[in-house]
Amino acid sequence: MNPLHHGTPARRGSRRQRPAVAWVVIPGTSGPDDARARVAVKATSPSLLAAAEALAAKLGLRCVVKGDEPVEAWLELGEEGLSLRAAGGPAVTVTPRAAVQRPPGGRDLLRRAVGRVSPDAWVADATAGLGVDAFHLASHGLRVVLIERSPLAAALLEDGLERARSGREGPDARRAAERMRLLQGDARRLLPELEPAPEVVVLDPMYPRSGKRARPGKGMALFRELVGEDADAAGLLEVARAVALRRVAVKRPLRAPPLGADAGGAAPSGSVVGTTTRFDLYAGRGRTT
Ligand SMILES: C[S@@+](CC[C@H](N)C(=O)[O-])C[C@H]1O[C@@H](n2cnc3c(N)ncnc32)[C@H](O)[C@@H]1O
Repeated sequence: MNPLHHGTPARRGSRRQRPAVAWVVIPGTSGPDDARARVAVKATSPSLLAAAEALAAKLGLRCVVKGDEPVEAWLELGEEGLSLRAAGGPAVTVTPRAAVQRPPGGRDLLRRAVGRVSPDAWVADATAGLGVDAFHLASHGLRVVLIERSPLAAALLEDGLERARSGREGPDARRAAERMRLLQGDARRLLPELEPAPEVVVLDPMYPRSGKRARPGKGMALFRELVGEDADAAGLLEVARAVALRRVAVKRPLRAPPLGADAGGAAPSGSVVGTTTRFDLYAGRGRTT
């Protein structure tokens, strides 16, 4: 049972009747220290305070009551689910209903990059992030294991999966979520432990910062600041190639060099190219793409 969605009524006689807010400092994310120290968890109603505290306990976090110190960013637990927020910025949340809608025009780059998958085989999304790609693949009938190392992103994902499984995100998202499972941890360690091994591994590491690229929205900039830069992504590609039975697909900005190219990494055997993005394809351990 996910504690996020089973808030208990405020405890009678509790000294914490007001404010109904728990601030939780997030240690152990992979982002910069100063960003971690600025994050909190906030319950929007007294009935969710216990769930917020359960989330804190689950993640091994410290709770402090609102008013102790100002925060710039917070995980907000409300009736609609869990979201990451910053003052004056939009909410960042997992959006299953939107993610399962098919892109118009039939140019589905991600699905083409994954290619043929045997019935009942698994696809691993080893950089799950906010689950957009994973929900999309699952909506095509694929079984998807999501791996995410940031505890903060994994909490958002777990919340999104729970909402989808409950049917609150619509029937398509519910069916997709039934084909998905989430693992929290570093994919370099978890991928080799998957049983059965995935037929295809999808990687979408954070794009390197570039002065030429459009700046991300404030919400996504915050997300990026908290999960970090993924500077170790070339190593993840090596692990993925040793694990995938058939193929590894790596999302890249259209004009970026292949992942790891500057460190003498293997060249991709092909690419699926869109207008702003491409997927580089690498043979897996079965040496097929
Ligand atoms: C650009 S986001 C991925 C977005 C995702 N494709 C989506 O559809 O929402 C990259 C994510 O990969 C995660 N990540 C990077 N390296 C990882 C690793 N070695 N193991 C697990 N997660 C990793 C980061 O924490 C981050 O959340």
